[in-house]
Amino acid sequence: MDGVTVVDHVLLRRLLSILRDKDTPHRVFRETMTDAALILGYEAMRGLRPAEVEIETPLERTPGVRLADEVFVVAILRAGLGLVDGFLRLVPEARVGHLGMYRDEEALRPVGYYENIPSGVEDAEVFVVDPMLATGGSGVQAIARLKRAGARRIHFVCLVAAPEGCRALREAHPDVHITTAAVDRELDETGYIRPGLGDAGDRIFGTD
Ligand code: URA
Repeated sequence: MDGVTVVDHVLLRRLLSILRDKDTPHRVFRETMTDAALILGYEAMRGLRPAEVEIETPLERTPGVRLADEVFVVAILRAGLGLVDGFLRLVPEARVGHLGMYRDEEALRPVGYYENIPSGVEDAEVFVVDPMLATGGSGVQAIARLKRAGARRIHFVCLVAAPEGCRALREAHPDVHITTAAVDRELDETGYIRPGLGDAGDRIFGTD
């Protein structure tokens, strides 16, 4: 699908298989999620702009690079927290924002209950992270809130996406690229991605 990168790497497929396995314990699930976030983040950040600098090796001066733009990682609560550490290993100086949303069961749409976006978002490269892109409702809302706060360069990173979620997010925000480890078969009638990996938040935090 246009605007969606499915990262094709055997190590990521191996990690995703561990995450899909219902017998994977919470601790292993959490650590594996962080490892997967490293690979996803590595791919999603491929386009970051370099700024040329000169550095001095023990022997002589030579050209090097630093990142030209600040990196923000914005976690959609609560499952998005599971991807933050992997991103921070890649860019330890990144700033982290949080967006909380719950699902209004009558209106069947996400409602924001918490927002903490670091200042300077208008000039940053912003990576919105949420392991599961299901209906796309919370991703669409999260990006809209970031745009209202002034963000202009936004990327969406997930682990597993449903085709419906990809379509909804790309339709609402055609400027936002999606990076994922997999696009699964479908969304079922209860809102779970199939085959999926179950409830990502419960599996990260051991709350099932
Ligand atoms: N959220 C999850 O955690 N899992 C799904 O399958 C869908 C949404």
